[in-house]
Amino acid sequence: MKSNGDCHVLPDAEQLYVTVTEHLLHLADAAIAARGRFHLALAGGNTPRRLYERLAALDSADWDRWEIWFGDERCVPPDHPDSNYRMARETLLEHVAIPPEQVHPIIPHARFEPEAAAADYADTMSAHLPLRAGWPILDVVLLGLGPDGHTASLFPGTGILDVQDTPVAAAYVPRLGAWRISLTLPALAHARQLIFVAEGAGKSEILTRLLRGPAAGESPLPAERVSNPHTEWYLDAAARGSA
Ligand code: 6PG
Repeated sequence: MKSNGDCHVLPDAEQLYVTVTEHLLHLADAAIAARGRFHLALAGGNTPRRLYERLAALDSADWDRWEIWFGDERCVPPDHPDSNYRMARETLLEHVAIPPEQVHPIIPHARFEPEAAAADYADTMSAHLPLRAGWPILDVVLLGLGPDGHTASLFPGTGILDVQDTPVAAAYVPRLGAWRISLTLPALAHARQLIFVAEGAGKSEILTRLLRGPAAGESPLPAERVSNPHTEWYLDAAARGSA
C-alpha cells in the first residue's frame, strides 16, 4: 500500500462515502462512454453498506448500463443473513433500475457446491465481460480490508492466494471454519481499477501494518499481494489513525 497519491484520507465516514460515490460515478461515466457498460464488482462485509445506500440514493446514474459482479461470497444461500448478495440487494439492488440480467450473484441458488459455483462464475465472467489475453476485465473492483490483512476472500495462509490460472476459486478458510468463493489475485490484477475502502478506528492497526510493509522474514499479507498499478485506497481519518 503506497502512502502517496494512491491513498485518499477523508475527514470522516460521511465524507469518505460521498467521495467514493462521486469517484464511482466518474468511473462509470467513463466506462459507459468508452464501452457502453460499467462492470462493477462489489465488496462484501459491512463497510460498503453505507456506500451502497448512498449510491442507491442517486437519481443521475445510467443504471441500465451498470453490470454488477461480486468480489467474493460466503457459501450460504442468497437470502442468508451472511450473504454478500443479500446485503447488496437490500442496500442497493432493490432500489435502482439495474436490469436483473445484469446482476450476477456468485451463488444464485440455495443448493451449491463451492468448487462448482466458482467454476460457473468464472465461466459467466468470461461470457459477459470483455476479455484481454483470455482474462475477463472488470472496470472496477471494490475491496474491503479485514483485520488480518485479507481482502475479498483472500485470507492469509489459504491456497487461493497461489491460484494463477482462473479468475474465481473456492477456498476453505480454517479460521472461519467455512468455505468462501472469491476473485483471485490475477483477476484483481487484470481489473481496470481497484478501490479499497476502509473506515473506522478498527482498521487503523492493520493499515499501520500495511503502510509499514512486511518486516524482514514476514510474509506479505493478502492485501499486499494485490498487484495492480491502478489501485486506490479511500480511508477515513479514524482508519488512517496515527499510522
Ligand atoms: C467479506 C468481504 C471481506 C470484507 C472484510 C472487511 O465477504 O467479508 O469481502 O473481504 O471486505 O472482511 O469487512 P468489514 O467491511 O465488515 O470490516
